[in-house]
Amino acid sequence: MLNLVVLSGAGISAESGLKTFRDAGGLWEGHDVMQVASPEGWAANPKLVLEFYNQRRRAALEAMPNLGHTVLAQLEEDFEVTVITQNVDELHERAGSSKVVHLHGKLSEARSSVDESLIYPLEGKDIQWGDLCDKGSQLRPNIVWFGEMVPMIEVAARITEKADIFIVVGTSMAVYPAASLIDFVRHDVPVYVVDPSTPMIRHNPNITFIRDKATTGLKTVAQELREKFH
Ligand code: OAD
Repeated sequence: MLNLVVLSGAGISAESGLKTFRDAGGLWEGHDVMQVASPEGWAANPKLVLEFYNQRRRAALEAMPNLGHTVLAQLEEDFEVTVITQNVDELHERAGSSKVVHLHGKLSEARSSVDESLIYPLEGKDIQWGDLCDKGSQLRPNIVWFGEMVPMIEVAARITEKADIFIVVGTSMAVYPAASLIDFVRHDVPVYVVDPSTPMIRHNPNITFIRDKATTGLKTVAQELREKFH
């Protein structure tokens, strides 16, 4: 089976009711992104950061996967699919995708604020101020913040190099190193970009832009892939 690799971003979850980042005009649910998604923000006001992610977690749990997530899961019948996502919700998994790489962490996990290898499943619970890791330090969300390393980027780059088909969906391609994954796609590989607006991707003859929402746009791509490659 051909390797189909998908790079997804906030736009794929938009039709599930979860807001994207850059469509909100620099504010994210009323907050300056650096206040709630950076080590500096955490140092300045950890309680605000915890509450912010507790709210995001509740919203993600209440949301349902949409047809875009489902179409990607169903493509596993015909392709070897790996989803590389920048999203911290788990709507891909909940729609049935079996191989999902989370570049920016997961809302469903907490981690130690002194040792990034100490990770704890939250099972839907909030992280409270005073919840400690085994080393006695405050728990924080297991989310990659601005200015932090992206440990999964190497794994994602190796997967991307093996892609026979590459889909970019619902990401502005504004955040690095995630956006640099497109440079690891082999030159002869067809790339489909599904987004109602125009992500920051250098045009090349192998790229097909589908200026549509994830639900309908991915349906169009899936149909074309089945006709062309199956
Ligand atoms: P952005 O908010 O930057 O981009 C969302 C993209 O989705 C835009 O290109 C929109 O046009 C598109 N979009 C909106 N509605 C859509 C729909 N219904 N279907 C398809 N596309 C739609 O989000 P990301 O690129 O995911 O990082 O942002 C990357 C990272 O920046 C995030 O992972 C997050 C953020 O800061 C961290 O939290 C570390």
